[in-house]
Amino acid sequence: MCGIVSILSFEDDISKKLIGALERLEYRGYDSAGLAFIDKNSNLQRIRSVGKIEELRRRINKITIKSNIGIAHTRWATHGKVTEGNAHPHVSNGVAIVHNGIIENYQELKKKLLKENFEFESETDTEVIAALIAFHIKNGNNFEQAFKNTILELKGTFAIVAIYEKETNILLGAKKGSPMAIGFSEDERSYYIASDAIALSSLAKNIIYLEEGDIVKIEKQDKLNYTIFNSSIHMTKRNIIPNNVSLSDVSKNGYETFMLKEIFEEATIVRNIYNNFDYDINISDLDSISIIACGTSYYAGLLAKYWIEDIAQIHVDVEIASEFRYRNPVIFSNTLYIFISQSGETIDTLCAMRMVKELGRKTLALVNVETSSIAREADYMIKLFAGVEIGVASTKAFVVQALSLLLLCVKKQDFKIDFLEDLINSVLNNKYQLSHIAEKIKDSRSFFYIGRGINYPIALEGALKIKELSYVSAEGYPAGEIKHGPIAIIDENVYTIALAPFDKYFEKTISNTQEILARNGKIILITTEKARDHLHGLESSKNVYCVFIPDSDEPYTSFPLITVIHLLAYYTSKSKGYDVDKPRNLAKSVTVE
Ligand code: G6P
Repeated sequence: MCGIVSILSFEDDISKKLIGALERLEYRGYDSAGLAFIDKNSNLQRIRSVGKIEELRRRINKITIKSNIGIAHTRWATHGKVTEGNAHPHVSNGVAIVHNGIIENYQELKKKLLKENFEFESETDTEVIAALIAFHIKNGNNFEQAFKNTILELKGTFAIVAIYEKETNILLGAKKGSPMAIGFSEDERSYYIASDAIALSSLAKNIIYLEEGDIVKIEKQDKLNYTIFNSSIHMTKRNIIPNNVSLSDVSKNGYETFMLKEIFEEATIVRNIYNNFDYDINISDLDSISIIACGTSYYAGLLAKYWIEDIAQIHVDVEIASEFRYRNPVIFSNTLYIFISQSGETIDTLCAMRMVKELGRKTLALVNVETSSIAREADYMIKLFAGVEIGVASTKAFVVQALSLLLLCVKKQDFKIDFLEDLINSVLNNKYQLSHIAEKIKDSRSFFYIGRGINYPIALEGALKIKELSYVSAEGYPAGEIKHGPIAIIDENVYTIALAPFDKYFEKTISNTQEILARNGKIILITTEKARDHLHGLESSKNVYCVFIPDSDEPYTSFPLITVIHLLAYYTSKSKGYDVDKPRNLAKSVTVE
């Protein structure tokens, strides 16, 4: 979380580039933002604002900035409230820094610095880094040495960039636990340090991803140079790769929001993963599979458990990464450990994977960002081919995560990809009905999503999505479990979304919806065409609203159901007037614990 971008350049107005890049990083957090630069008189200047980056842009547009070195930050608060005073960059004695991560020993460092008469103005853990660099400078070190000394004293996770008003031709960065990339413009007149390649799309032709413990120095003399030091502070080389992220990957392409664009891509990206799926992974000899992930990626794992156990008859465990990594799990020898992550940077998933590797087991990662930490550190990788996902709530990535796990256990030549595309398209073509339902349900006090069997993980995903976007409580439940407590919540102000295609669970789920109706609850029934003749008048009840999707069997039916619940969450949030791409309090890439 938090996005960082910085520049050292031969050009004079760096602020537009920094703000543009920062806007592309807004998915990493957006509660406040700030920028610091050193002006032509070698004075450090700082501008910060609470709220989204457009507010910072407004402030910057009112002034003239002439500078060729600067750092910028978009924040997702961890330590300290969302205030201008807690927004980055943080400054101490001419040093300014931006930080992504958490400094675990900041209290002890702060105590030491207070004794040295350093002053603090924020509630953040970050400010201590700026003060510590300034402390080492005060003790006779140059900026570079002071920065290196500081990095060696920090505990926790970080991506940090620093500038110093008395050494205006040096930009310093360090990475441990949080992602960081260096970027080089095509004309070699601007070098960047940023959180990722998305920030640098259109700015950097080539990039380098830093490795754990790396420190980078960018220096301006008659030309720009860079030097990378490894965690033992020895000079090292890292691979330069082309920056493949283009501006069109990070634009809305005519859609009103990124999220809607991404839901509409669900129908096309299933073919991407299908066409590119040629992995030689034989799961049939395994005793079991263990899937570890967070958020929506975790639900993709749960969904796949049903398919893999049913089709391949292999036992599957699915675990939340933040739980898995802190218990003492039993690690089996003939088990395949699969880690799922859209971003490839979720810290809990990354650390859980490292733990399994340290225990000597091979790891397989399903990731969308192939240059991410998880992709680079896993023994094997399945790329998801979803394209850049910007909407904070994951949608299209969920679809391809589920499909790639399914392709591990079905014969590719038997899989009906055209049929799958048609199914998803038919839901997308029905978007007006779903937007109409969203209007009806938007004032529901809370939501239940219910389903049995394979429909249950989709219910969980549906509840998560509407909760993230509409800020009301929503629970996903196995339909048969609702009578064991949750039914107490049901009344005329609560909507239940029942996922009941005409499958082997249909009759039972319908009975559960009757139990809810008997308590004045309201139902949105998502079912398949075949069910029309088996509803026994349910569809004409004033408290029931039906959505019919085309007939299909598993493993196909899950996919149109997913698109339905994504659209429903999308339109509910829209009808409440919320920002669907950047829901409050969230961030897309969760690089802190
Ligand atoms: C955040 C996002 C979710 C995402 C989860 C896991 O919470 O808001 O949409 O599912 O992180 O992210 P990952 O990148 O590991 O799939």
